[in-house]
Amino acid sequence: MKSRAIVAIDGPAGAGKSTVARMLAKRLGYLYIDTGAMYRALTLKALERKIDLEDEGAVTGLAEETEILLVPQDGTEIRVYCDGRDVTSAIREPEVSRQVSRVAKVPGVRARMVELQRRMAERGGIVMDGRDIGSYVLPGADYKFFLTASLEERTRRRWQELRDRGIHTDFEQLKKEMAARDAMDSRRPVAPLIKAPGALEIDTSNLEPEEVVEIILKHMEEGR
Ligand code: CDP
Ligand code: CDP
Repeated sequence: MKSRAIVAIDGPAGAGKSTVARMLAKRLGYLYIDTGAMYRALTLKALERKIDLEDEGAVTGLAEETEILLVPQDGTEIRVYCDGRDVTSAIREPEVSRQVSRVAKVPGVRARMVELQRRMAERGGIVMDGRDIGSYVLPGADYKFFLTASLEERTRRRWQELRDRGIHTDFEQLKKEMAARDAMDSRRPVAPLIKAPGALEIDTSNLEPEEVVEIILKHMEEGR
């Protein structure tokens, strides 16, 4: 296995990217970078400022004046700061999930985020998860994975996560929202959600996170 490698993990919402990426980073002693958290942080700020999300100029301007920091805690947990404020928990609110794809499709927003993400990856030894990591942000990544799961299963996971945080949502409504977000992420013109050429696709529907990590590590050890 290459040392200080760059590992890219992409896939739709609820496929298990962050859970698996975090566990993998811990096993390898790498840094985990959650790019979705960056788009979420900017979306939270835009919602709080009541910015018209259809106004691409305004949203791009906001991205340019916003400082987003991902601060690793113990190698697995990261805290997310937006202009110095800890927004780790606030960015997981359902309203942010509902609106984030509208912000993430703005080309000026992506340009800014991608620049930051490439800088964070410069020294290697990272696991980065998102939608366009293997295809656009880090096309030269040493290892690329594309996680999937059925919409039903992905919704079940997100529903449970929200419930664990005391947020009760209607399952069918959540399923519709997740499908709508996947569609927006897949259809946007700039850096859409796609499986990068050469990425190993893993259907996690019937797998535990630990099993997915083992598949990934085996693939990396075999140097494919
Ligand atoms: O955790 P979950 O799968 O719900 O989403 P996330 O990874 O936190 O990403 C939230 C949103 O950010 C996605 O639905 C995309 O619209 C956007 N995103 C993106 O456009 N590109 C990335 N590399 C990561 C996230
Ligand atoms: O980042 P992404 O939206 O792809 O998924 P996540 O935020 O990691 O959420 C996935 C949820 O499903 C977590 O609660 C995991 O414990 C659970 N899960 C998983 O990640 N992977 C599996 N193979 C099975 C369950």
